[in-house]
Amino acid sequence: MKKHLLSLMASLACILPSQAQVKVSVHESQPGAVIPAEIYGQFSEHLGRCIYDGIWVGPGSDIPNVDGYRTDVLEALRTLKVPVLRWPGGCFADDYHWRDGIGPREKRPKMVNSNWGGTVEDNSFGTHEFLNFCELLGTEPYICGNVGSGTVEELAKWVEYMTAADGSQAELRAANGRKEPWKVKYLGIGNETWGCGGNMTPEYYADIYKRYNTFARDYSGNRLYRIASGANNDDYNWTRVLMDRARWDMNAVSFHYYSVPEWYNKGQATVFTEEDYHTLLRKAVAVEGLIQNHIAVMDAYDPEKKVALFLDEWGTWYDVEPGTNPGHLFQQNTLRDAMVAALSLNIFHKYTERLKMANIAQVVNVLQAMILTQGKEMVLTPTYHVFRMYNVHQNATYIPLEYEADGLMSLSASRDDAGTLHLSLVNPSLTDTVTLEFSFDALRPCAVSGEILTARDVSAYNDFGKAPAVAPAPFKGSKLSGGQLRVTLPAASIVVLTL
Ligand code: AHR
Repeated sequence: MKKHLLSLMASLACILPSQAQVKVSVHESQPGAVIPAEIYGQFSEHLGRCIYDGIWVGPGSDIPNVDGYRTDVLEALRTLKVPVLRWPGGCFADDYHWRDGIGPREKRPKMVNSNWGGTVEDNSFGTHEFLNFCELLGTEPYICGNVGSGTVEELAKWVEYMTAADGSQAELRAANGRKEPWKVKYLGIGNETWGCGGNMTPEYYADIYKRYNTFARDYSGNRLYRIASGANNDDYNWTRVLMDRARWDMNAVSFHYYSVPEWYNKGQATVFTEEDYHTLLRKAVAVEGLIQNHIAVMDAYDPEKKVALFLDEWGTWYDVEPGTNPGHLFQQNTLRDAMVAALSLNIFHKYTERLKMANIAQVVNVLQAMILTQGKEMVLTPTYHVFRMYNVHQNATYIPLEYEADGLMSLSASRDDAGTLHLSLVNPSLTDTVTLEFSFDALRPCAVSGEILTARDVSAYNDFGKAPAVAPAPFKGSKLSGGQLRVTLPAASIVVLTL
């Protein structure tokens, strides 16, 4: 009988929620690097309904718009504080010929978007529409140039068209309605050149990179920040060859990493088991090892850290929503995706001496989107809320934390110019509440406030025509006393605190 009782208690201990206690030392007296705002970058591709429907509806649309851009999406993105927007791809970039996307819209040639569902692309959203959108949004444009199927001359002239104050391309731009050149900071020389961007070897691409880069000039005071198309996941040899052969000619090298359940059986965004949940989160946090290893390769060639590492595509990737075009990569977004976003951002904060940009894929209606649209309706995803809550970290100084915790719990801190400390706390456990006891080097916080993102279920999501199931709420679980902070972090929650 006694034996039975013991084993019953043992199994109950596994099932019943527990309350772990974690002590956290905040080392505000040992500040780290500034967290570049660009860690919160976004990506917009001519893919599915990202550009058309998502951002651009055209000036004649009955969907409320500002010069053709959806008003609701524009405002939601302004609130997000998007620091940089990558365009026009992705794989699409290496099929894109910019001259098809300028001049009167009704005269622009149509093309088939062979990468993404064979959809007809009418080029009504082109260079002017993109760069004007960036100005409206107050974001830095990141142009990804066509190296796979475009010529050196084509990329050279595109840069001139966008940024030169004088000359034939400036005249053409003015004839198309824009006298002043735009400021364009970021230029990607190709995308995934190991794959959809041309199936090249790193040795071949290193030479190609230098050739295209040579003729992409700096005009009229505009200085390009030049990005080499980088590795797929853990292809460290790719990074090594580029650093070895082209580091003098580039400002950054990128790499891409997606959190995918399994490439040939991705599963649905909203239907998953507890095991699927943990497996996916483990895949998401595996990005830390990749960042460390790419950095180690770069450090060997560039100890002064002159070349930056960019993660210019990341996020979750599932099967498309039933009934939608498989080539359009439209997926829902649950609290599980919010966890992936929050855990990933906390990781990125740690490596910003080298990691200077990260662009989540993609901004609207594609993969791990911030926003979903359907006709006139717009939905803010759980991932949007993480990016909005976390934007306090943009341009703030990283503050190291010391703690020991089981599982995937993750904490991060930064301090802004006004001296305000922000903590982002992620408890992915589905059962366990965590009590956090923070102590500080010398800081004596006098007030604390915060927001929490959680839901009844990690598979909860926000849907059209329904009240939001996942939305931030004021957080009541923190208390200051005697210079110490005590936080009760519920299971499956993301909290951002302001001190
Ligand atoms: O984001 C979707 C696609 O994923 C991009 O076009 C490509 O670069 C990557 O493989």
